[in-house]
Amino acid sequence: MKDNHAVPDLVGGTPPYTVRRSREQMVRDVREGLTTTPKQLSPKYFYDERGSELFEEITQLPEYYLTRAERYLLEKKIPEIVASVGPCSLVELGAGSATKTRIILDAMRENGCAECYVPIDVSKDFLEATALQLQADYSDVRITPVVSDITEPFAIPPVASPTLVVFLGSTIGNFPRGQAVRLLSHVAGGMGPSDRFLLGADLVKDPEIINRAYNDSQGVTAAFNLNILERLNHELGADFPVQDFEHRAFYSTEHRRIEMHLVARSALIVVIPEIGEIRFREGESIRTELSYKYDRATLEDILAASGLSMESWMPAGDGAFALALSRVES
Ligand code: AVJ
Repeated sequence: MKDNHAVPDLVGGTPPYTVRRSREQMVRDVREGLTTTPKQLSPKYFYDERGSELFEEITQLPEYYLTRAERYLLEKKIPEIVASVGPCSLVELGAGSATKTRIILDAMRENGCAECYVPIDVSKDFLEATALQLQADYSDVRITPVVSDITEPFAIPPVASPTLVVFLGSTIGNFPRGQAVRLLSHVAGGMGPSDRFLLGADLVKDPEIINRAYNDSQGVTAAFNLNILERLNHELGADFPVQDFEHRAFYSTEHRRIEMHLVARSALIVVIPEIGEIRFREGESIRTELSYKYDRATLEDILAASGLSMESWMPAGDGAFALALSRVES
């Protein structure tokens, strides 16, 4: 990995690195999102401690095929990927569950090199817990967690080459094309010729299957969505009457994306001390998430626009999900 990233907002010199002013950033984002029409909040705010727990639960739901499809693909494909790349470092963007990480680190060890693991995530508590758990089983791997918001340019500590950079779980789906290209260009800018980028992406399919994955029968996705309001109540002292909001998620075939909303069941006014009064009409919604679905051509195009060239396309047998391995364009 090239060490050409500016590290302007890291606090202190030892891990876990922490970004300054994350709360101020949150107040700014919430103000901007709730005082414009239509109202919106960034999905990055789902992941407080409770939200991360609920997301873990989502990944185990029968309707939520994404995680299982990706894990199956990883188990099948990682040995050959690791054998061909020969990575000594693993950098993971939006580090989620340790399960995927273990699959990759095990394969790296097997292949003879597993020096460092750098998980990068916006959720400090989740990151620390995951890093601690992993360190217990991988005492030979240097684990350097980075608390960072990947929607902004982020710092990657220098690590041993070659590096495998992974961005899994179809988190890329949260980024509209322009933002995706900005993020992936930043990643590509830090990669050398021997490094590789592994992306996990959810694919376009029967809308009914997609809709079911975001409208599960146990209401876990609804709780996950509504938790963002609980978080604003806890952290910003807002007074959202959470029971007066309803989870709504639908797939748009036109935009090839899931949209998640929180819909006000009645007209109401919410007070957020640092921001002011926010008025809702009956039926007015806050858009909390976009989750794009892809095909190979669209992903190749986004990667190419980011300076990455797809080397290998690995779709699941049923075409539900895919892994794509890319290198920097020379
Ligand atoms: C983490 C963005 C991949 O879009 O499927 C799951 C988050 N939201 N259920 C997704 C999510 C609702 C998830 N990503």
